[in-house]
Amino acid sequence: TATLTLNGDEALDRFGHHMEREIDAQPALLADALSLRGAIPTLERLLGDDSVHELAGIRTITLLASGSSHHAALTARYWLEALVGVPTLVELASEFRYREVALPPDTLVIAISQSGETADTVASLRFARQLGATLTLAISNVSDSTLMHQARWHMVTNAGPEIAVTSTKTFSAQLLALYQLALALARLHHRLTPEAESEARRHLGELAQRAHAVLALKPLIDDWARAIAQGQTLFCIGRHSNYPVVLEGAQKIREVAYLGAEGHAGGELKHGPLAVVDRNLPVVACLPWNRLAEKMLANLQEIRARQGRIYVFTDAALPSDERMNVIRMPASLGDLDPLLYTLAFQLLAYRIALHRGTSIDTPRYLAKTVLTE
Ligand code: G6P
Repeated sequence: TATLTLNGDEALDRFGHHMEREIDAQPALLADALSLRGAIPTLERLLGDDSVHELAGIRTITLLASGSSHHAALTARYWLEALVGVPTLVELASEFRYREVALPPDTLVIAISQSGETADTVASLRFARQLGATLTLAISNVSDSTLMHQARWHMVTNAGPEIAVTSTKTFSAQLLALYQLALALARLHHRLTPEAESEARRHLGELAQRAHAVLALKPLIDDWARAIAQGQTLFCIGRHSNYPVVLEGAQKIREVAYLGAEGHAGGELKHGPLAVVDRNLPVVACLPWNRLAEKMLANLQEIRARQGRIYVFTDAALPSDERMNVIRMPASLGDLDPLLYTLAFQLLAYRIALHRGTSIDTPRYLAKTVLTE
């Protein structure tokens, strides 16, 4: 693949690892993707003329993916249901392909894969087609991948080759592509009000600069990382479209720092996870100041009551104290917050791994692309 054409060491420049370089590249990549596609592209522009008529009548959406791409799909579900108003299911490719699936007619099936080669994801799209799906879209970072050849429509995420095994910039590029797709479908379905459109445009216009501001938080994040690196486990908690962000954040930390990180939805803590909270458990919370923020604060109180060590990424002016560390994030971008908070978790995972001395770009037991089941 294209990733093999770069000379590893030369490409590192001033960075310690490819992972760090690929995190750092994101503000510029997001800006490039936005100028390439336009902030709110039409569906014709994204997928071609024939998509307009065909996708005007979709009644459900099913997203198929594995690993981090599955987390991108989970985030996209919040956008698609809110903006397009169409029931949306997110499936692990490895489960979907062996289920007795009831796939309604008029379903748009979207398969997402950075590499476009993941065996389960490719097979799940093939399976969907065998079940009668004709409205198929592949989203990949590799334009001539197997997955792209199997789908009727295509979107390329344009993140450039990613060398570190764990995905960072390609995940963010998937999120942006999926958000823009949701906006385009919303417009097609006459659900994008002028107010919503101008707010989305404003947020997209701010995205690269706010992402840059997150990168500037590195020294603060490193202080957290040094402390967290001493332990063996941690929780990452979030709600709404930031719930998948903490699933992905925990995944990054497992992959590169080999810590038993778990991602939980804030509202689920009392249904089990609270049982393991004690003074040794670090809990990293994703708390953009939105309509669910008060609920997240209540969740944090539950952790505080059990002496958990709390670390909060938030754009609110919350005071730090000895039991709650706060990093002030750039101001919320609404729907786009998952992109900002993902970046913070990627930096955290990277810095924890540095302190633990793990093999960051090539984590043990993991492969970049899984070609077998
Ligand atoms: C492997 C990689 C993960 C990746 C997953 C899906 O397990 O280690 O980082 O998320 O495959 O890859 P894909 O190329 O389909 O997005």
